Amino acid sequence: MSKVRIYALAKDLGVDSGRMLEILSDLGVQFKSSSSTLDEETVEAIKTILAEEKNSATPTTPTATTPSAQGDSAPALQNQGAPTATVEREVAPRDTAPKNEVPHRAPVVTIMGHVDHGKTSLLDYIRKTRVAAKEAGGITQHVGAFEAKTSKGKIVFIDTPGHEAFTSIRARGANVADIAIIVVAADDSIMPQTREAIAHAQAAKVPLIVAINKMDLPTANIDKVKQDLIAQNLVPEEFGGDTIVVGVSARTGEGVEDLLEMISLVAELEDLRADPKAELGGVVVESRVDRQMGVLANVIVQQGTLRVGDFLVVGERYGKIKALTDSLGARIKDAGPSTPVQILGFSEAPTAGDMVASARNEHEAREMVQSRVTVRRDGEQAREKRRMTLDDIFGA
Ligand code: GTP
Ligand code: MG
Repeated sequence: MSKVRIYALAKDLGVDSGRMLEILSDLGVQFKSSSSTLDEETVEAIKTILAEEKNSATPTTPTATTPSAQGDSAPALQNQGAPTATVEREVAPRDTAPKNEVPHRAPVVTIMGHVDHGKTSLLDYIRKTRVAAKEAGGITQHVGAFEAKTSKGKIVFIDTPGHEAFTSIRARGANVADIAIIVVAADDSIMPQTREAIAHAQAAKVPLIVAINKMDLPTANIDKVKQDLIAQNLVPEEFGGDTIVVGVSARTGEGVEDLLEMISLVAELEDLRADPKAELGGVVVESRVDRQMGVLANVIVQQGTLRVGDFLVVGERYGKIKALTDSLGARIKDAGPSTPVQILGFSEAPTAGDMVASARNEHEAREMVQSRVTVRRDGEQAREKRRMTLDDIFGA
């Protein structure tokens, strides 16, 4: 047996990825991402543990008490319990382990790549087919992030521009992402901003998935893209590497379902969780001034919950949330982790990339802003002092 990737093994064995992670951590196995490979010994150990679980009858799995389940079990695994499959014989480790109280959250997936390689088209395809029909018409164009409901649950997507001028937007996009999708046009292959996007994802330590787009074109040259990926040290799985590569077409929809499947698998293995009751944490994705509405800030909630009426502090500004809109344009009252929202309530546009914190009341919001201003001014003064001292010394 050759090397097996974690997500593929989880799928093959039909186990929940959270359980797979538990097993790997119990076994002390180090891995970088869900596409890391496991050696044969580890795979066997995982299979053994799962077989053991299957054979240790639990009240919720009545079939485990049937004779065939007994017969299939590995003898070595039975010597620790009673010879018959009594329900209370032993408690499987997962039942005794303290349950992680923090709930799962949807993955935030940033789409990056070279200009015109089809990032927005790919998202348009996903939006059209995945977002509930009643919501589809109401998409706010300016929200850079949106939620898609897939067969595997909710996914939050962030689109980024491919034009070379927008390096900092791509870097920010990579920083808020749980997973990066690098879109590469099959007729154009790896280009400067593809390389840049890969570098951002790697710098942000975000697992990446390569989507080779425009597969429908007669000029599509998938082999060339794969060779070029290898030259970037992104070795596709079929060549024995760790890089997940999916061929797609934003025009025909080919491969899009596979891409969504890969996103879910990687996300499950990342075991993303956030506490909606925790202190608020969020990040500004973009902001703009609407002539009628005023300042609109697009924020992704990372933990905690945003509520209309809350006081928020971003950078050296604060505001009170007057209205919250989801990525489909619907008014909402609150928003939990992994929710992109548009906030109305700031008097000046907050800077994209800034973190969002909440304050209990206006007084606290003002104090938080004041202390940030003080910290910044102190730093500036200290730097100025150092510069003056150096000028004294060197007589500049
Ligand atoms: P920037 O945001 O400017 O970086 O571009 P982008 O990557 O978002 O590309 P966009 O989705 O705007 O698509 C660029 C062009 O490629 C458009 O003319 C699309 O119609 C075309 N296109 C995108 N995906 C496909 C595809 O799968 N097949 C074909 N044939 N054309 C595509
Ligand atoms: Mg685009």
